[in-house]
Amino acid sequence: MDELIQQIENYKGEIGAFQAENAEAVEQFRIKYLGTKGLVKMLMGEMKNVPVERKKEFGQILNEFKQFTETRYEELRQSKSNGNGTATSESGTSIDITLPGDEIPVGSHHPISLMRDRMISIFQRLGFAVAEGPEIEDDWHNFTALNLPEHHPARDMQDTFYISTNPAWLLRTHTSNIQIREMQKGKLPLRIICPGRVYRNETVSARSHCFFHQIEGLYVDENVSFADLKQTLYFFVQEMYGNDVKIRFRPSYFPFTEPSAEMDISCQLCGGSGCNVCKYTGWVEILGCGMVHPKVLENCGIDSNKYTGYAWGMGIERPALLKYGLNDIRLFSENDQRFLKQFTSAI
Ligand code: DAH
Repeated sequence: MDELIQQIENYKGEIGAFQAENAEAVEQFRIKYLGTKGLVKMLMGEMKNVPVERKKEFGQILNEFKQFTETRYEELRQSKSNGNGTATSESGTSIDITLPGDEIPVGSHHPISLMRDRMISIFQRLGFAVAEGPEIEDDWHNFTALNLPEHHPARDMQDTFYISTNPAWLLRTHTSNIQIREMQKGKLPLRIICPGRVYRNETVSARSHCFFHQIEGLYVDENVSFADLKQTLYFFVQEMYGNDVKIRFRPSYFPFTEPSAEMDISCQLCGGSGCNVCKYTGWVEILGCGMVHPKVLENCGIDSNKYTGYAWGMGIERPALLKYGLNDIRLFSENDQRFLKQFTSAI
């Protein structure tokens, strides 16, 4: 017992004389004397071996020793903080608080979002409102109401993802379902654009994907004509690609429009002289369009003798590829930060 008290005295001498060169040495001190497996804890453990009549005396000695060690630790810590903007953290490591802070990384807009927003803003200036609809859709809104007959190949399992537990539901194959939902509301005239994601059962490659994005447009009113449609799309193309771009309409077929057309623009990569993007034709197809089929209007409760309408459906990925000079649609969905962070500003 007396031996132990003598030893504590010796430790005091050792601690009093302890010199710390740097913050690491201060930390070593803390671990050695004040840590969970340190000397102070160890001596506290000795308490149980002390005879009852001396417990009080020994307890006092121990408390004093603990305080002494803690005070010394504080002194050492203070001395390693030089007062010139260097602080010592809890763990004893010094931090220069005058250094500039770490930059907080800010995210960037996805190129598809940038392209979508740009398209929306052009049509909004013409008075189109944005409408949205569900990605999980029923067969009627995606196909039947749009005059797609039962045997139409687009309804095939090969082309469409059906919900396995209830095949009456599917992942919409186009944003045309939103046309139907909006027309059903019965508020006319109707002038909307419908951006959204669509799904098709396609093999993923550089040119096609099992999901992509579209913007649908719809205008229903009295006396809406194909000339109005052409004028609207011409305005869009000039705003998007500049005044030099040429457009052409080719007759086409969609069950939900009559007449139907596809619209091409002169290739933005080669200027129309021919390259592998335009397959050496000088033209790139960007959308399908037409006058809303009277049956589609009637399916939504609209009097097709009184009202006419035009519509179009346009992909977002292809114009984005053209705009940024990219050649692989998969880049948009791989989430590679090196690719994504290049798109920081509006286009
Ligand atoms: N829904 C068509 C598609 O996904 C695109 C389309 C064509 C939409 C003509 C329309 C339209 O509204 O009038 O290929």
